[in-house]
Amino acid sequence: MRTIDEIMSAAPVIPVLILDGSIDPAALAETLVASGLPVLEVTLRTPHALDAIRAMAKVPGAIVGAGTVVNRDQLGQAQDAGATFVVAPGLTEGLSRAVLDSGLAYLPGVSNAGDIMRGIELGLDRFKFFPAIASGGLPTLKSLSEPFASVRFCPTGGITAENAPDWLAHPAVRCVGGTWIVPKGDTDPSQIGQLARAAAALRPA
Ligand code: 3PG
Repeated sequence: MRTIDEIMSAAPVIPVLILDGSIDPAALAETLVASGLPVLEVTLRTPHALDAIRAMAKVPGAIVGAGTVVNRDQLGQAQDAGATFVVAPGLTEGLSRAVLDSGLAYLPGVSNAGDIMRGIELGLDRFKFFPAIASGGLPTLKSLSEPFASVRFCPTGGITAENAPDWLAHPAVRCVGGTWIVPKGDTDPSQIGQLARAAAALRPA
């Protein structure tokens, strides 16, 4: 089983996928993997998500996780569907302990120093910085990284093709996440492939 650090280091960008059923999940995963983005976060925000995780987990090279996991039931469903990592929008002790017990890799959301301290108390040092732009953007991340030297982040929420390079240039940023690779309503594989290849060419500091 890969650690969350290995997963965050596997690609500079994690596509955040909100699937509405208009796109075949296995074909989408094949396009993204072939374009250099093997780490895929399928958010549990639509009724299609668990079936999509099941289908995508079978695609060679794909590292498939469940996003927007907010309770233990969803953790169990994600694990049953074959997710290898779990992303949560925030950090609670109860869910964190359950994910750590599950053996899945874990990326909980933080947006302030208290969140990070609670995470560190649980043995965590890899976090999603969410919502990245609304929480103050890069200046906030820079301030938070100062007292927590060993912590690394995946900023998500408001990241775009245009601002991703600025985030990735910060040494505390391992990767970024975002929905811009698979825009809502866009089912054109060549367009998605183009956005994915451009994202995969970005480099962390
Ligand atoms: C997430 O859950 O990570 C965010 O909703 C992604 O936000 P974005 O649409 O701003 O990329």
